[in-house]
Amino acid sequence: MTNEGARVLVTGGTRGIGFAVAHQIVRQGGRVMLVGTDAERAQEAAASLAAPGRVFSMGCRIEGNERQSRRLVEAAVESLGELTGVVNAAGGATVGHALDLSWSRWKEDVDTKLWGYFALMRAAVPHLASPGGVIVNILGVAGKDPNPRLAPGTVINGALRGLTKILADDLAPRGIRVLAVNPGATETDLLREMAQGYARLNGVSTDEALAAMRSSGPLGRLPTASDIAAAVVFLMSEEAALITGTSLDIDGGVHRGPA
Ligand SMILES: NC(=O)c1ccc[n+]([C@@H]2O[C@H](COP(=O)([O-])OP(=O)(O)OC[C@H]3O[C@@H](n4cnc5c(N)ncnc54)[C@H](OP(=O)(O)O)[C@@H]3O)[C@@H](O)[C@H]2O)c1
Repeated sequence: MTNEGARVLVTGGTRGIGFAVAHQIVRQGGRVMLVGTDAERAQEAAASLAAPGRVFSMGCRIEGNERQSRRLVEAAVESLGELTGVVNAAGGATVGHALDLSWSRWKEDVDTKLWGYFALMRAAVPHLASPGGVIVNILGVAGKDPNPRLAPGTVINGALRGLTKILADDLAPRGIRVLAVNPGATETDLLREMAQGYARLNGVSTDEALAAMRSSGPLGRLPTASDIAAAVVFLMSEEAALITGTSLDIDGGVHRGPA
């Protein structure tokens, strides 16, 4: 499997899953533009990949802003040339019940992830290799297995799952594939933030909440960012040329609903 020659825009690329994706693409000979909220942190993340001339970075807060998304894609194209891929991974996972979370929390989460992913896809499509371009959206198992304690993620990832499928249908005639990966609880900085949320809800310590999450998987451990990234780079590769419109769960077997 190879992504040699890949030219990929990765949002949420400064840490966690997005960074692991960028790392694996670069290791396979590809080039990436990393995006995070903070330009300096993004630059540091890019430098840590130690591949001068193949890794670029930008600070930009992803949100449902069409003009900003266009500017971001144009900057990526200027650095990388025509894109072969886009990985949408910028986002978080607010722990809380639907009626308990504030309206402003809901709006911010929806704006970052649902509208942010969609705006970037709309901006990127005209600059994606056709045929051959690939979009991978990092969603989350709550999108198919509703979790009342992860209300925004359940709603946002469910909507993005539908959007992934309909864009895959719309873009198939142009030879562009659109896919989703659903991480379960994954060992990134976000896991600790989620554990803090569960600790508050359940009246336990953060360490107890973390331990409960870590012991929840039948395969004995939670996925790491590299486990998720390995699936993403496979889906982007030529070997996955006939896979589109689907979402792949990587959760160590936690999800028990329909496949
Ligand atoms: N980890 C999990 O358990 C888990 C489970 C299910 C789904 N997911 C999904 O996987 C994706 C990545 O999560 P992760 O675990 O890798 O999180 P993470 O380790 O906290 O990293 C988040 C990344 O997203 C960036 N980011 C966040 N909000 C952004 C915004 N508005 N604009 C631009 N960049 C933004 C951060 O940039 P800065 O460095 O600048 O902050 C960072 O690079 C998210 O969509 C999340 O919902 C994660």
